Amino acid sequence: MAEGAVGAPAVALADPLARGWLSGRGDAALAASLEPAPGAVPDAPAAPEPPGDCTGERCLALTFDDGPSPETTPRLLDILAEHQVRATFFVLGSQARAFPEILARQIAEGHEVANHSWSHPDLTSLSEDALREEVVRTNEAIEEVTGSSPTLLRPPYGATGPTVARVAADLEMVQAMWDVDTRDWEHHDPARTLAAVGDASAGSMILMHDIHATTVDAVEDVIMALRGEGFGFATVSSLLGDVTAGAAYRAAT
Ligand code: NI
Repeated sequence: MAEGAVGAPAVALADPLARGWLSGRGDAALAASLEPAPGAVPDAPAAPEPPGDCTGERCLALTFDDGPSPETTPRLLDILAEHQVRATFFVLGSQARAFPEILARQIAEGHEVANHSWSHPDLTSLSEDALREEVVRTNEAIEEVTGSSPTLLRPPYGATGPTVARVAADLEMVQAMWDVDTRDWEHHDPARTLAAVGDASAGSMILMHDIHATTVDAVEDVIMALRGEGFGFATVSSLLGDVTAGAAYRAAT
């Protein structure tokens, strides 16, 4: 649409001095005519199509734990959208409850939202009831926003065992671990995060954390480097394909 047409009235106005002659209905018509015609309103930028999942042979998954954070996650989502990359977010239930609008955006933009417990305990240190509560409460907080209960559980610290596996199986979830650990939370160094993804291979699940600005700082370079190696990006569920409830996966094979 031509820029000059923005805000042009829909119809030519009658001589303003004639307004006094207009009935009440005429006033309404005049007011309406002052509104820009629907077609004259600049279109809001179309929401980008969510990127498709990788379906080739060299797919891997970028995963981000411990969010969402209003300080860092929206900027990460901007970067992922700009580069048409799908990722998987392992959220804390407590954070999901506090920032549901960020979850809603993650889903709207094609990402997968999954369970990283409610409060980040070592699940193997809990009673089975307490463990189940950590997982179920988080599933409920996610489902409230996204409309569906997540199918992936990532135990904090990667700490798992028979009881975690049993609870996951009961809830028809699988355990999603990782095979590439950037240790971004420890060194806070974008260059080291970038270097760590050099270990990725087809089917890799790469662990990062969206609560650190220094991780978000690394992500654009991470995407470019992996694309340069011929990798495409998939959500974890898409990458894993058929799974066995309760089982733990470090990568897709
Ligand atoms: Ni964590």
